Amino acid sequence: MFGQIYQADLKPYRDELVITTKAGFHMWPGPYGQMSSRKTLMTALDNSLKRMGLDYVDIFYSHRFDPDTNLEETAMALDDLVRSGKTLYVGISNYDNAQTQEIIKYFHDFHTPFVVNQLSYNMLNREVEEDGVLDTLKTNNVATVAYGPLAEGLLTNRYLGGIPEDFQIHWSSTAVMDQGRSALTQKLNQLNEIAQNRDQTMAQMALAWLLKDDVVASVVTGASKVSHLEDNLKAVQNTTFTTDELDQIEKILHA
Ligand SMILES: NC(=O)c1ccc[n+]([C@@H]2O[C@H](COP(=O)([O-])OP(=O)(O)OC[C@H]3O[C@@H](n4cnc5c(N)ncnc54)[C@H](OP(=O)(O)O)[C@@H]3O)[C@@H](O)[C@H]2O)c1
Repeated sequence: MFGQIYQADLKPYRDELVITTKAGFHMWPGPYGQMSSRKTLMTALDNSLKRMGLDYVDIFYSHRFDPDTNLEETAMALDDLVRSGKTLYVGISNYDNAQTQEIIKYFHDFHTPFVVNQLSYNMLNREVEEDGVLDTLKTNNVATVAYGPLAEGLLTNRYLGGIPEDFQIHWSSTAVMDQGRSALTQKLNQLNEIAQNRDQTMAQMALAWLLKDDVVASVVTGASKVSHLEDNLKAVQNTTFTTDELDQIEKILHA
């Protein structure tokens, strides 16, 4: 789909765009259609470039840590893809702190242009802070791109009246629901009050809260309505928080 849109509308702007793609979750049948072996990564990027009609991407990600492939093989395959001109930079996604630290050693050895670990991160899901992976990224002067920044829409004005029983949360954020629906709804309403005081919608404040920190290079927000995208884009107009606002937010989240 992106290939079609790129060819029809975006092609003249290629030099202004950062285009990224990933490999690691299931893409084709058989053992090489997923994970992070050399064969999988190389084949996946070739296929992706063909589908999009591109010569190169800006960032190519290993979408998940592969317990059955030596990490050096994954790092070397990513590095070779840079040398072959198919990607300018490399990234990883869903690698925890220990896995990130280990692969960074290989990237240093190979002088690989490694820039990002894409992680599940939002106000309600702080696992990447607790695990130490954010600190590791800061120490190495690289960044994260936060996915699921609105916690499947919980951090918008959509569930202020309650969270339906059939609400589904992504596997990376399931702990968010542990506190129970009614306690969570109460917190969402308290957060919404702070957002209103900042002249932001809840979604804008949730995105701004992530972007306030330099270690968050970007956020991947999912929206299927143009109005939602327009709402979310305004988040960048105010990414500064007072200490008081940050304290109030922490108090609500940890109550
Ligand atoms: N690296 C990984 O392993 C990984 C894993 C999961 C996802 N991702 C990436 O992250 C992206 C975002 O994930 P996500 O969809 O879970 O993100 P999200 O941005 O946290 O949540 C999206 C949900 O929020 C709703 N929403 C967005 N803006 C809104 C607004 N202004 N007002 C009300 N509702 C709003 C959307 O509804 P509507 O659809 O109605 O607009 C959708 O239901 C995905 O597209 C994917 O590319 C990466």
